[in-house]
Amino acid sequence: MYKIAPSILSADFAKLGQEIEEVILAGADWIHFDVMDNHYVPNLTFGPVVCKAIKPYTKSTPIDVHLMAEPLDSLIESFIQAGADYISFHPEASKHVHRSLSLIKSKGLKAGLALNPATSLDILSDIVLDELDYILIMSVNPGFGGQIFIPKTLEKIQELKKICQAYYQTTSRLIEIQVDGGINANNIKKIAQAGANIFVAGSAIFNQSDRNQAISALKQELQNI
Ligand code: DX5
Ligand code: ZN
Repeated sequence: MYKIAPSILSADFAKLGQEIEEVILAGADWIHFDVMDNHYVPNLTFGPVVCKAIKPYTKSTPIDVHLMAEPLDSLIESFIQAGADYISFHPEASKHVHRSLSLIKSKGLKAGLALNPATSLDILSDIVLDELDYILIMSVNPGFGGQIFIPKTLEKIQELKKICQAYYQTTSRLIEIQVDGGINANNIKKIAQAGANIFVAGSAIFNQSDRNQAISALKQELQNI
């Protein structure tokens, strides 16, 4: 049930294919793909052409695209074409959240909504939850890897877990909880105990020379929770 999603934001871009193969061999469950546009967030990364280029290296491991960009809908279409499996975006970047979610779902992909530290859970009305496969809780402000986990996020995850459980009881539909930012072997257990099951980690994996050991250390902490 627990998934580790290495963020390639901290990978060596000069050998991206090799970096991806390495973390998949080391046990990565998803490949997290951070799209930044120097507009919605103050940083610039990569787009659909890079997603298409890495697709052969990911084989059956899903590509989880995290859009920190605006406007969204044409970009969503480009990422669908480029082979994305999961797409999340920030509600502040979409003029019509339900339309953007429906667009992702209409092509059979899984859809997520990414909530910044200061963004309230109030946006999660039933009409939104009905379109969601996962909710991404940002535990840092979006834009950069290597930031410190904001501890208050743990309470937000607990609150969200309650919302997802209540929703499950009425619909039998499971919405997963992903957390992104500042995750490492020292805090992943607490984050899981709060209710998350998908863990994005960039620097905690790619800044280590032994990726096997880095992912094993994270997975080890998730044993016996
Ligand atoms: C931040 C990104 C994260 C980031 C995580 O805006 O969404 O995915 O790469 O990196 P670490 O694990 O280093 O905080
Ligand atoms: Zn991310």
